[in-house]
Amino acid sequence: MSIPKRASDTPYAVEVETGKSYFWCACGESNSQPFCDGSHKGTDFTPVKYEAKESKKVFFCGCKSTASQPMCDGSHK
Ligand code: FES
Repeated sequence: MSIPKRASDTPYAVEVETGKSYFWCACGESNSQPFCDGSHKGTDFTPVKYEAKESKKVFFCGCKSTASQPMCDGSHK
């Protein structure tokens, strides 16, 4: 299994909006973190979809090592 690139040492705080879908970058190569920009092409990774059930601030994983993709679970520590 491929190892993702560590994009950040801390999670990304994002204000998500009810009903909107977001595609979290799983490979770590995207230039528009924490979201996919297509840079995963040619790797084993695909983005992970997140659907916002309500408008609120959430923390997307930046280190790409989280066990609960796409959210931060503290694995960056
Ligand atoms: Fe990383 Fe698409 S750019 S999953």
